[in-house]
Amino acid sequence: MIEIRELNKTFHLENSDVEAVRDLSLTIDDGVIYGVIGSSGAGKSTLVRCLNLLEIPDSGTIRIDGVGEIELRNGKPWLNGKRMTAREQNNMRRGIGMIFQHFNLLDRCTVFENVAYPLQHTGRSRKQIEKRVCELLTLVGLEDKTNVYPSQLSGGQKQRVAIARALAAEPRILLSDEATSALDPEATEAILSLLQAVNRQLGVTIVLITHEMAVIKSIADRVAVMENGRVVEEGTVYDIFADPQKEITRKFVSTSSLLGKLDKLLEENAELIRVKPGEMLVRLMFRKDCVGEHLLTTAARKYGFDLNIILANSEYLHGSPIGGMVGIISGEQDHIEEGLEFLRQNHVSAEVIRDGRTDAAGHAESVPVS
Ligand SMILES: Nc1ncnc2c1ncn2[C@@H]1O[C@H](COP(=O)(O)OP(=O)(O)OP(=O)(O)O)[C@@H](O)[C@H]1O
Ligand SMILES: [Mg+2]
Repeated sequence: MIEIRELNKTFHLENSDVEAVRDLSLTIDDGVIYGVIGSSGAGKSTLVRCLNLLEIPDSGTIRIDGVGEIELRNGKPWLNGKRMTAREQNNMRRGIGMIFQHFNLLDRCTVFENVAYPLQHTGRSRKQIEKRVCELLTLVGLEDKTNVYPSQLSGGQKQRVAIARALAAEPRILLSDEATSALDPEATEAILSLLQAVNRQLGVTIVLITHEMAVIKSIADRVAVMENGRVVEEGTVYDIFADPQKEITRKFVSTSSLLGKLDKLLEENAELIRVKPGEMLVRLMFRKDCVGEHLLTTAARKYGFDLNIILANSEYLHGSPIGGMVGIISGEQDHIEEGLEFLRQNHVSAEVIRDGRTDAAGHAESVPVS
């Protein structure tokens, strides 16, 4: 388990301070793939760099099983109550593998030498190192590239070498900072499969930073959303995508769904989403506890409304369905209300985005259609 408590890291620049990580607390269970998302500058890289002390936090504690409790006092790390030595810091870093967007391979070294690099000066014999490197290259599917140089490899192959190198010292934790961002979709999928295999077969906990929602959906178990150095929302991938709470999370989630197009349509006041008097533009979101029950057709039949579907998205996340649609609903007003209430009672989130009724409250947003 990785337990982060009240972690802070401020960078002091000439004219200003940047609070990259603020009072951040997070628990990452053993054996999970834990995603971290957030806008550029949110502090994601700083957070993972703090986890292996590549960046020394100013204050807070980090407890890692197998390492101990690291407490930061005035920007100095203390391990289990004693000042942490440079050797202890190095040992700790060795136990936490890391991969990056741009691979960070040694260009003048062969694939073999790159993977063997972290094993040097660890007391292993040449034979042991050779054996380990062979195992790792087989694991990442590059056993035929042992003696080539990074420049002779594709991006995906370079990242495989980087993964093999990160796993060389048998870490329990792998930190991945935008590891697939420089890869094409095919290579991305292959690397994600490899990371999943590393997680499942070797039991390595993976902390995965990415701006690609598809990556989170594809392999992460849980996800944290960072904004301005803080974690603003955290949960299972399903819950975060099915029911985002914070505005920033909604923004990220909507980029990965066709329903995200609604914002643009609203901005443009597109013809498609204009409502006539009496109509309503609604967004209906379905979760695993309400799909598959023909709720929508039941409601439409029972309450006699029509739904003109404008956008729809449905998919499976971690084996459970998730979906939604945006549409214009028309019919007798009382019946529409009852119909929406029926859907809500059945756990469908039903949100009225534009209301074409000139109701008593007078907040109708309808745009008359000429
Ligand atoms: N070494 C540094 N010196 C000064 N400021 C830094 C340093 N590293 C990061 N920062 C600042 O800290 C903040 C968080 O940066 P960080 O790299 O952690 O963000 P990020 O979430 O990883 O962003 P991105 O998605 O663009 O990689 C930013 O404002 C950045 O400019
Ligand atoms: Mg970053």
